[in-house]
Amino acid sequence: MTRRTRRYGDGGGGVHFSHSNSRSSILLIVLGTLLLVAYLHGGSGFGGIRDISRVEGDFSCTLEVERAIPVLKEAYGDSMHKVLHIGPDTCSVASKLLKEDATEAWGVEPYDIEDADTKCKGLVRKGIVRVADIKFPLSYRPKSFPLVIVSDALDYLTLKYLNKTLPDLVRVSAEGLVVFTGTPGRKIAKVTEVSKFGRAAKFRSSTWWVRYFGQTNLEENGAAAKKFEQASTKTSYTPSCQIFHLKSLH
Ligand SMILES: *[C@@H]1O[C@H](CO)[C@@H](O)[C@H](O)[C@H]1NC(C)=O
Repeated sequence: MTRRTRRYGDGGGGVHFSHSNSRSSILLIVLGTLLLVAYLHGGSGFGGIRDISRVEGDFSCTLEVERAIPVLKEAYGDSMHKVLHIGPDTCSVASKLLKEDATEAWGVEPYDIEDADTKCKGLVRKGIVRVADIKFPLSYRPKSFPLVIVSDALDYLTLKYLNKTLPDLVRVSAEGLVVFTGTPGRKIAKVTEVSKFGRAAKFRSSTWWVRYFGQTNLEENGAAAKKFEQASTKTSYTPSCQIFHLKSLH
């Protein structure tokens, strides 16, 4: 090792200088490669963020809704002009939707928002976001919103409440309901999560959901699902939650 270093230093400069120089260039190359890998990885569909969140165990499908907005717009077109989102952190989804052109958005926050920021409290004051227990019927008239989106909420309901809540979400929708649920096997059992929601999430498989929708006479919106799929492929969007498209009742 020493001999090699000395040979590198033959060019005239101090042996020490050249030694530390080559070492730091190697370090820089390694660091650069790592950054490049991280950048490429992050660029291809938020893989980086997803992985980090997964390790920490607090990945949310509400975040997934925000990522999916462009894809939802492609799939639902006009129905996206008036949206109700139901789920934790609905303030952030509603704000994001409100930034879209010609889009009205409302939110239902199923849990308390004591720690919400002032912006969120402002949305609540304006009546855009409501805090409501989704175990009880929502105080909206039937077909109030063309599109209703729910995330991170149904996973926390037992079958008894799911049987009441899901039809009620369909009731307030006019065109469709989009359900974002967690994928089974995802680790999300932090103590804080459990205490916040009062119950640990139960992630049901997609076959379970499809069977359940069938039993409760909810029809999948095949046309929207197909458009969503096509738009996802086009934009290389890969959701890390299960997404179901349901028809509203007519
Ligand atoms: C909920 O609905 C399903 C499907 O209709 C039914 O099989 C199940 O018994 C119901 N469960 C409760 C607790 O109401």
